[in-house]
Amino acid sequence: MTKIVNSWNDFDPLKHVIVGRADHSCVPPEEPATSEKVPIDSPMRGMWGPRPLETVEKANAQLDNLARILTERGVRVDRPEPLQWNQPVITPDFRTGSMMTCMPPRDTLLTIGNEIIEAAMSFRCRYWEYLAFRPLLSQYFNEDPEFLWSQAPRPRLSDKSYKHNYYDEKISLEERLVRTANKDFVTTEEEILFDAADVMRLGKDLFIQHGLTTNRKAMEWFKRRYPELRVHAVNFPGDPYPIHIDATFVPLRPGLIINNPHRPLPKAQREIFEKNDWQIVEAAMPAHKEPPPLCYSSVWLSMNCLVLDHKTVIVEASEVNQLEQMDKLGMNVIPVHFRDAYAFGGGLHCSTADVYREGSCLDYFP
Ligand code: NVA
Repeated sequence: MTKIVNSWNDFDPLKHVIVGRADHSCVPPEEPATSEKVPIDSPMRGMWGPRPLETVEKANAQLDNLARILTERGVRVDRPEPLQWNQPVITPDFRTGSMMTCMPPRDTLLTIGNEIIEAAMSFRCRYWEYLAFRPLLSQYFNEDPEFLWSQAPRPRLSDKSYKHNYYDEKISLEERLVRTANKDFVTTEEEILFDAADVMRLGKDLFIQHGLTTNRKAMEWFKRRYPELRVHAVNFPGDPYPIHIDATFVPLRPGLIINNPHRPLPKAQREIFEKNDWQIVEAAMPAHKEPPPLCYSSVWLSMNCLVLDHKTVIVEASEVNQLEQMDKLGMNVIPVHFRDAYAFGGGLHCSTADVYREGSCLDYFP
């Protein structure tokens, strides 16, 4: 019996990781939570169904390549078992036409120390996504006597969980920004809702983005569930679609974070970093003007990198500005082509989930 699961941050030496798979991925039908996420001028508005096979194959080729590169560097890589996502989700509380994918494991699984938590996600189309990871979690449970396998309280995702009419075709970008500033998001406080990718882990401290996919009740749940950790709610008022923290605020090593210059962390929330001599550096501009077709995410996936240790980082190969900045920041950069996977749920960080990193729970903000 060995220790399989351990990870307290996103930068200690990576030894074991899950890399997603794009098989059977669908564009889900609109639902109360997702209509917020699809920008008004996106060709994805109103369409749903299985993604074109050719795009799935291209994404899988890049995911397989990432898995190979990691394996060659001595990292153990596991892969989920995708379901046939093109099936409706029907519960006593709702019905939606299809599921989505299990490609971005970072959204579904949150590792805190020796525990992996299946997140309480707010998209109805992602209701069963954790099932794709169950064979792996079951295996870790069998192999590691200290592994804690948890699930956050399952949300019901009834109509009470969303603000109806929050979404309006005519809503301007300015109005979206006002809503973000006012912390007015599509979810209600009816139940605990969070995506794992809204949680940035820094040892004893969890920085959790309050936005479209994570509500205040989730913050309260984290506080009660982890009394030994400190939970900080963070907001990025410059983001009109605040979903997931990992294209906004990305730690590279102890003491260094890159921050999306369009979404700066407000002054009051910067204090804890500055007081503890952490440097917050503006991330380089993305190399692309537009995300790839049928992509939910912004061009800022440029900063969605996978840190392998305090000196080594994988960055998307076409993101020349980000590659150069990482180099200047003293990181050894491994460029990996990954844009074909973006449309399936995100970049290099999104597409992975930590199982084991060396290191322990440190207090970076004493
Ligand atoms: N909301 C983010 C997703 C990052 C993974 C963005 O598109 O910038």
